[in-house]
Amino acid sequence: MTAYHTILVEREGKTAVVKINREAKLNALNKETLAELSAVLDMLAEDVTVRGIVLTGAGNKSFIAGADILEFEGMDGASAELLAIEGQRNVMDKIEAYPKPVIAAINGFALGGGLELALAAHMRIASSTAKLGLPEVSLGLIPGYGGTQRLPQLVGKGRAFEMIMTGDMVNAEEALAYGLVNYVVEGDELLGKCYTLLERIYLRSPKAIAATIKAVNTGVLDPREGFQKEMALFGACFDTDEAKEGIRAFLEKRKPNF
Ligand code: COA
Repeated sequence: MTAYHTILVEREGKTAVVKINREAKLNALNKETLAELSAVLDMLAEDVTVRGIVLTGAGNKSFIAGADILEFEGMDGASAELLAIEGQRNVMDKIEAYPKPVIAAINGFALGGGLELALAAHMRIASSTAKLGLPEVSLGLIPGYGGTQRLPQLVGKGRAFEMIMTGDMVNAEEALAYGLVNYVVEGDELLGKCYTLLERIYLRSPKAIAATIKAVNTGVLDPREGFQKEMALFGACFDTDEAKEGIRAFLEKRKPNF
């Protein structure tokens, strides 16, 4: 397997654990990290032995403390726009559209680009010590990796405006109450909780899971198109070997073999 500077990839059964590995910088996302993460995601998408992904940060203090602010110094508007475009297309959108389930295991600070990366994942589980926020306005900036769009989708406009305008962090319990995370668990149970949830998903049809991701994502951007997409994908599922197996297994009163 390729060696990466800033990313560790570990395997836990059918799950690949992708860990941002810049602990001394609280796993801040610099250009190298984003490029490596993009490459890792492409590699794991092709690996048929990998059925799902857990994204997390090295150490127990931080998930990802945002974009690397060191790279912002002296940056002009055009370069910053390009940074946002590349980060969104090559990493955030890739995670959102990933054909296998992606869970963000938020093991500490999830700030700025770190929270935006978690927002792009299909689900989020936080440790009880996690702190989540979009502090960009305190730097004179706004979120650039999709935060102004994905945060309101999850928590509603009012809460999103509050978080973005104040730049303040919310704790894990508040994030749970907002619907920002699915579960809060103790730090030493975080990865285990992700694996257990993914194991449930692995019992289901991978092709149906991939179709679900497409249908939900389409509808979030355009609800009318989302309904069309759902009908088309519902139809397409019927032509898969997995739907044939799933339906036959039900009628034969046995578990499907996906
Ligand atoms: N970019 C670059 N470096 C970062 C960083 C970021 N987003 N977040 C943390 N770091 C670095 C710090 O500069 C420090 O490096 P150093 O030891 O070489 O000085 C190291 O990580 C540890 O961070 P530190 O600030 O000392 O830890 P702390 O416990 O006192 O504070 C935070 C933790 C998360 C509150 C604080 O680091 C912070 O506010 N980070 C920036 C968050 C942010 O604004 N993110 C959005 C960017 S758009």
